[in-house]
Order: sequence, then C-alpha cells, then structure tokens
Amino acid sequence: SRSIDLAVVPGDGIGQEVVAQGLKVLTAVLPQDVKLETKEYDLGAKRWHRTGETLPDAELEALKNHDAILLGAIGDPSVPSGVLERGLLLKLRFAFDHFINLRPSRLFPNTATPLAIRDEQRGAIDFVVVREGTEGPYTGNGGSLRTGTPAEVATEVSVNTAYGVERVVRDAFERADARPRKKLTLVHKNNVLVYAGHLWKNIFDKVAQEYPDVTTDYLHVDAATIFFVTQPERFDVIVTDNLFGDILTDLAAAVTGGIGLAASGNINPTGAFPSMFEPVHGSAPDIAGTGKADPTATILSVALLLRHLGYDAEAARIEDAVSADLAERDGTFRTTDQIGDALAVRVAS
Ligand code: IPM
Ligand code: MN
Repeated sequence: SRSIDLAVVPGDGIGQEVVAQGLKVLTAVLPQDVKLETKEYDLGAKRWHRTGETLPDAELEALKNHDAILLGAIGDPSVPSGVLERGLLLKLRFAFDHFINLRPSRLFPNTATPLAIRDEQRGAIDFVVVREGTEGPYTGNGGSLRTGTPAEVATEVSVNTAYGVERVVRDAFERADARPRKKLTLVHKNNVLVYAGHLWKNIFDKVAQEYPDVTTDYLHVDAATIFFVTQPERFDVIVTDNLFGDILTDLAAAVTGGIGLAASGNINPTGAFPSMFEPVHGSAPDIAGTGKADPTATILSVALLLRHLGYDAEAARIEDAVSADLAERDGTFRTTDQIGDALAVRVAS
C-alpha cells in the first residue's frame, strides 16, 4: 500500500497556523489507502532562543529519511537577521541540494491584482519561475575587510558552475516542453554580469538545441520586471539565477493575487534527498495569532508536494478547489481556519 512519510517544520509566526491548514487539506485529499505519517520538528526562533541551535546535525540526518518536508515560515524580529535564514532555511536547501526552486504564478479568477487587465486575459497569466536554488550570491562566498570602519569593503561573490547551471536549465527545458505553450525565457543580466551571464547564456543555447519544440527568449532582469507588470501573459517558463529568482517571484506574487497565494517547492529532482515545500511568504509576526493569515499559499504548496510525489490527481484537486474557493471570495473576512476548512471540504467531495 502507498504511504507518505512527511516531515513538518511549522517554524515561526504564522508558520504554525498555515501548516496546520496545509495538513488538514492534505489529509482530506488523500485516498483512504494512502497512509500519511507526519513528524514535527521544532526548529526556528523559539528553539534558537532556548538552545542556541538552528539545525543540529542529528535533526538534519533525521530529516533526510522523510519522503518530503512541509515548511511553514522561518524568522522572527527577535533573532538577528541572517541567523535563521542561513542556519536553517538555506542550510536545508543546500544540504538537500534543492537546485530547483519552483515558483508557479497563476492569476486565478476573482483575485486582486494591480495589473490593468481585462477579465478575459486572466487565464493567460500562468507562468512558472524555475529559480536556481544552490548557487549564485546565496553561497555565502564573501567577506568583509576593515569591518565597521569608513574603509570597509564587503564582497558577496556570485558562484555559478557549469554543472549547477546546466542542471537547472535542463530541468526548465523539460518543464517548458511539457507545457502547452512550450516557451522558456532565460532571465539574467549578461550586459553587466558578463562572466556568469555568458555561462548561463551559452549553456541555455546549447541545451536549447535538444528541445526544438521549445521557443526560447532572453531578457535582462530589469526588463523582465517591466514585463511582469505590463505583459505577464508573455511568460510561460522562466529560468533564472537564485537572487534574480528571489526578487522576481515576489513581484510575480504581487501581481497574481499577493503573497498569500504564492507557493513554492525546493526540489531535488534526483530524489537523492527529500524536497521541501513552503509558502513564499514569511512568518508575518505582526499578524501571528490573529487568524488573519491566508493559508492558501501553504495549501498550494501541498499541491506541489503531491505532484512531486506522483499524486497528480490529488494535486489538481487542490488547485481546482483553490480556484473555486477564490472565485467565491467576496471580501468577507474568513479566519485561517475557516479557509482551511472550506478547502478541506472541497477537496474531499
Ligand atoms: C524566499 C526567502 C528566502 C530567500 C530568505 C528568507 C532566505 O526570501 O524563500 O524567497 O531569499 O530565498
Ligand atoms: Mn524571497
């Protein structure tokens, strides 16, 4: 019989609340014969305050044995900036070699957008950013000289390897080839960042030859931000480096219903390590405990998790339920729990 052995890292702030709803919907959508086991890991700000630990080796080892990880949110203003980001979230992404950071954006019906678009255009806004997850300026390759003096010099080196670029570019071509529009846009800044930019472009052009059905395009990242706002329907799949992808996906979320809807997967497609699914948003300590957090981003992340594990029909049921639920939202306030309950009912029926 089938089973899912899931590690759950609720984390900080609203992380706890949204993860509870994600698990509720996951339980509701799974067929009877699939056995779901969950194990919660106490990681995040509270743990750090209590013990000074961010992610001890024993827990990193234990996490390795699960089929996947569901993560809520990490971070709290009481913890110095960077401690949990580097010591926990990025540590997991790097240790489990999550080289694909998958961030889909779709303009669901009846969702708020600052875009000046007609209703008929909404369906065309459906793209996915394949953000590189293990390299770029995120590797911690940098340093500071004469720290704290007027002569301070700080470097933060972007690391790009042919191996790392090729594997994410290949994955993006595969994803583009599997979608109806079959279009892949490389986003970089090769007019200024010439070394990394040329590595990306050369590998992109080389791999493109193996995918004759995929239409390709290149945009500098600054130009891409304009198109995200003026013409988001031009995008299908986007492949880009870690930092550009971080920034672009916040913008993507902002134009497609807000950060409350943005889902993500930190994926290792080889299966060598568990992949990790999390909402793009943070721990939002300002609204923690108020019931105002929208769990939809986490619930959509659960759909990505299910698709990664091969439960395509169940993933689609969650996405359809979200779409139907959004279509009926009329601005009446619903708590985190109420949204989770409504979606759990929809996916079960
Ligand atoms: C994200 C976040 C993280 C990132 C931070 C918290 C390390 O902004 O998941 O987008 O930069 O990747
Ligand atoms: Mn981000």
